[in-house]
Amino acid sequence: MIRSIAGSGMECWKWAIIMFVVRSTLAMCPTKCSCFLDHKGRNTVLCKEGGMIGPLNLNNVSLDTEVLKITAPDDNNNMLTMSPVFQSYRKLEEIHITKSNVPQLGMHFFWGLRKLDVLNLSQNNITQPLDHNFRGLDKLKELYLDDNRIQSLPSGTFRYLHELKLLSIQRNRITDLANRIFLEIGKLKALKLSGNNLRELNPEVFRDVQELRQFECRGCALKKINKEVYRLLPYLSVLDMGDNEIKAIHADDLKDLANVKVLKLDGNQIFSLHDNTFSNQIALRKLTLARNELTKIGANAFVELYNLTELDLSYNKLEKIHDGAFEAVSSTLEILALSGNQLKTHTLKELGQLQALKELKLSGCGITEYDLDIKKNITFPKNLESLDLSANHISVMNTEFLPAKLKSLDIAKNRLRGIDEYNLQRLDHLKSLNLQGNPWSCDLCYIVPLLERANRSATFSDILCVSPYTVRGKSLGMLEKGDLTWCTAASYSTGDADYFLVSSDGNIGIIAASMSVCLLILTILAIIGTLCYSRRHAARYYTHEDKLAIEGENIVDNNHSPLFCDGELSFKFPLDNDSKKITISTIEDIKKEHSITT
Ligand SMILES: *[C@@H]1O[C@H](CO)[C@@H](O)[C@H](O)[C@H]1NC(C)=O
Ligand SMILES: *[C@@H]1O[C@H](CO)[C@@H](O)[C@H](O)[C@H]1NC(C)=O
Ligand SMILES: *[C@@H]1O[C@H](CO)[C@@H](O)[C@H](O)[C@H]1NC(C)=O
Ligand SMILES: *[C@@H]1O[C@H](CO)[C@@H](O)[C@H](O)[C@H]1NC(C)=O
Ligand SMILES: *[C@@H]1O[C@H](CO)[C@@H](O)[C@H](O)[C@H]1NC(C)=O
Ligand SMILES: *[C@@H]1O[C@H](CO)[C@@H](O)[C@H](O)[C@H]1NC(C)=O
Repeated sequence: MIRSIAGSGMECWKWAIIMFVVRSTLAMCPTKCSCFLDHKGRNTVLCKEGGMIGPLNLNNVSLDTEVLKITAPDDNNNMLTMSPVFQSYRKLEEIHITKSNVPQLGMHFFWGLRKLDVLNLSQNNITQPLDHNFRGLDKLKELYLDDNRIQSLPSGTFRYLHELKLLSIQRNRITDLANRIFLEIGKLKALKLSGNNLRELNPEVFRDVQELRQFECRGCALKKINKEVYRLLPYLSVLDMGDNEIKAIHADDLKDLANVKVLKLDGNQIFSLHDNTFSNQIALRKLTLARNELTKIGANAFVELYNLTELDLSYNKLEKIHDGAFEAVSSTLEILALSGNQLKTHTLKELGQLQALKELKLSGCGITEYDLDIKKNITFPKNLESLDLSANHISVMNTEFLPAKLKSLDIAKNRLRGIDEYNLQRLDHLKSLNLQGNPWSCDLCYIVPLLERANRSATFSDILCVSPYTVRGKSLGMLEKGDLTWCTAASYSTGDADYFLVSSDGNIGIIAASMSVCLLILTILAIIGTLCYSRRHAARYYTHEDKLAIEGENIVDNNHSPLFCDGELSFKFPLDNDSKKITISTIEDIKKEHSITT
């Protein structure tokens, strides 16, 4: 009996204690912070309001906390100093203390955090991390020190971090890499040093991190590719050397990068690609050479790239791509960007052979509708799904050239004034169509098929009218068919003639205007006729006609008058002694002449 009373008393106490613990863990959360379980179910404390000042304190932060994040909004950064507060938080797996102006890390402050995987100290004011700062972080896998003010790192700074896999020290002020800087972190897989003004890479330091799979040094002011470095990194699979000052890739620069899958060399000053530059990169899948100064691509530039699926050559100075340059990659290449190059039609033809191509970017390439003329045998790859033709000079939408499987077309910022019903119907099945930024002419001539689609989607309703001026700046969604004027003068010529011709009642305005133009022409013809007639008479009576015939041209030209009086209407220039006639050239002729002279 007594035992059972005592037992139930014990039970009560147990419950009370459990209730208290639950209550207190629920209640335990610092003011201005939030406490929750993250997507992996870990106890997380997040303090992001900012304005915290003084030594870091963890009052009311539960000892069970597994993830601690202290950050701040940009306009209210914290002003924290580190203090040895972590000793009892043995369950911590991640610590993020960012945007907190932390100036330095204390000795052994992270001691004993044997479960810590991630330490993120980005966006602080750290100038000089030292090895003892990281002591005790036996299991740390990822260390982020981005956006601090680190100027130098002494040898062996990270030597207690035996398990480190990722080290990121981007956008600091490191100018050189001291020997043995990566001592004892031989398991490192990813090293990110972008945004430090290194100018060159010291190959020695890479001896300690030969397991590297990923190396990034974007914006490091590097002048060349240092092949000594890559000789030491046989497993490298992602290499980012973008936005440096590399001028050339020499024949065997990349020879040792036999496993590289992603290579980024965009934003450098490379001006030519030699044959066989990539002869050892059989694993390469993604190559970007955008924003360089390439003028041509040789026939054998890509020959050994058996696995290339993505190639970015945009914003170079390419005019010509050698015949067959893409042949080697024609069965694998899926994404090709050539935007921002002034490509010749010839090069567009080369694209037809890219059997596997799904996505093609040709923005800002100076392409006109003539380049896309089906008669020139331009064929886009037959499996193409996405085509970017934005920012070109296309003024007539002709859908004949579009491949059957196309799903997405970007034809923004061209010179389209309208699209006719036939061609629009052939665009209707597209999943995505961008028509923004064309000089749409919202009148009955041009816009009706588009206006009829205005209630379908924003693609059409957001089209902005550019002319006539009565509806300039209005979107199709705001217009009714009744608002449209008849074809405005601007429909036929460029320029803003519609200012004169379209009154608020456009139809009457244009009829009146064209009638007055006709009248004017008739009047002029009548006057010229009268003049000619009276002059002939005068000539017969007062001059010697045979003399006139010899000097004819001179007199005629000096007087400028009888231009319209000869039997046939032809223009003569004074210096054309061999009576060369000026005929009106067709655009084709002009282009021919142009291409001969250039
Ligand atoms: C801790 O919690 C108590 C009560 O829940 C509160 O009064 C106190 O201000 C909190 N302290 C901090 C630093 O958040
Ligand atoms: C580290 O902190 C910065 C700044 O808050 C953040 O942008 C970044 O995503 C964090 N890194 C990781 C891996 O959480
Ligand atoms: C960062 O540290 C430097 C000295 O190392 C100091 O002059 C500067 O004011 C600090 N910046 C901020 C925002 O606290
Ligand atoms: C690259 O392509 C070759 C030949 O097509 C193939 O044998 C090899 O396995 C591929 N390599 C990679 C890394 O995909
Ligand atoms: C286009 O191709 C056809 C047959 O394939 C050929 O007869 C014709 O000459 C080609 N036209 C041009 C402009 O290359
Ligand atoms: C758009 O409006 C037309 C009539 O103007 C109507 O027949 C059609 O169903 C509408 N379509 C949608 C998607 O609302």
